[in-house]
Amino acid sequence: MMDPLDRINVAGDSTYVIMRECTDRGHATWMCTPDALFTLDGRCFVNATPVRTTAAAPHFHTEDPVQLELGDFDVVWMRKDPPFDMAYIFTTYLLDMAPDHTLVVNGSTGLKQFNEKMWVQLEWPQFQPPTLITNSIRRLGDFVRGRREKTVLKPWDGNGGRGVLITTADDANLPSMCELLTEEGTQYVIAQGYLDKVVDGDKRILLFDGEVLGGMLRVPNDFDHRANMHAGAGVERCELDARDLEICAALKPHLKKWDMIFVGIDIIDGHLTEVNVTSPTGIQEMNFLYDLHLEGNLVDCVEAKLQEKNA
Ligand SMILES: Nc1ncnc2c1ncn2[C@@H]1O[C@H](COP(=O)(O)OP(=O)(O)O)[C@@H](O)[C@H]1O
Ligand SMILES: [Mg+2]
Repeated sequence: MMDPLDRINVAGDSTYVIMRECTDRGHATWMCTPDALFTLDGRCFVNATPVRTTAAAPHFHTEDPVQLELGDFDVVWMRKDPPFDMAYIFTTYLLDMAPDHTLVVNGSTGLKQFNEKMWVQLEWPQFQPPTLITNSIRRLGDFVRGRREKTVLKPWDGNGGRGVLITTADDANLPSMCELLTEEGTQYVIAQGYLDKVVDGDKRILLFDGEVLGGMLRVPNDFDHRANMHAGAGVERCELDARDLEICAALKPHLKKWDMIFVGIDIIDGHLTEVNVTSPTGIQEMNFLYDLHLEGNLVDCVEAKLQEKNA
């Protein structure tokens, strides 16, 4: 389950290398977009396109779509990119209909239960910077003006750095920013203490079935404060410190419980800001930085999980 093949940038996409790994291992693979799913009398079906994925162009070799049932697959990879909107959530309801012997990665129940930014607020507030989430323009303004340091404002459902703004108590744009981001007080917005060490990087750590695979720093460029690769940030090697490992250890039982098998978390200066579960990326960048083949580790992990499930 993914975005259309012609939108996949093979130079950086994690889904592409996972698909390639599956083809290389001799696994039959299919692709579809969310609109290919339907349910009839309690069973979920899909119009799926058989695809072989190769290193050489044209990369994706497809055949005519066939109608299959979710239970015909060993694994369903939910790799549709955000937005995390009602259409996305509805897809997770359909994926919930996969029978017990089919493994859905990441688990569809958890995908709808937890939001990438709200999950931190809900479960691990001790690892966050000071954080207010509200749709009240007045409350946002009061929070920012009550702080001596800078504050970040961001949409609760953003990704790739979309809409992330920095502001201060004396910012003449503040009221206007709050109106815009809340869409006149109707949309929830996150106001969060600005962590100034972000200039040295926002750490992305990859976890497969709760185990830490490694991390990298995403470092903002000179023209944009945001440390998202989408916003032109560069990537660097880094070590994981005791605090990073403490955060990962706290997350592990939750990730395992909800079948969150491929997860990327964001840590800025020892603070957890996001648990990316919808369609995390970073495999190709980490492979490049550390000379790894992480898609192999991930597929190993999924194969083991499937065996465990059906033992
Ligand atoms: N509390 C913060 N302090 C400093 N910078 C932040 C903070 N929150 C977000 N940012 C900046 O915005 C970027 C994106 O924020 P994030 O919360 O991870 O949302 P997204 O889902 O858009 O990636 C971060 O990489 C960082 O550069
Ligand atoms: Mg992020």
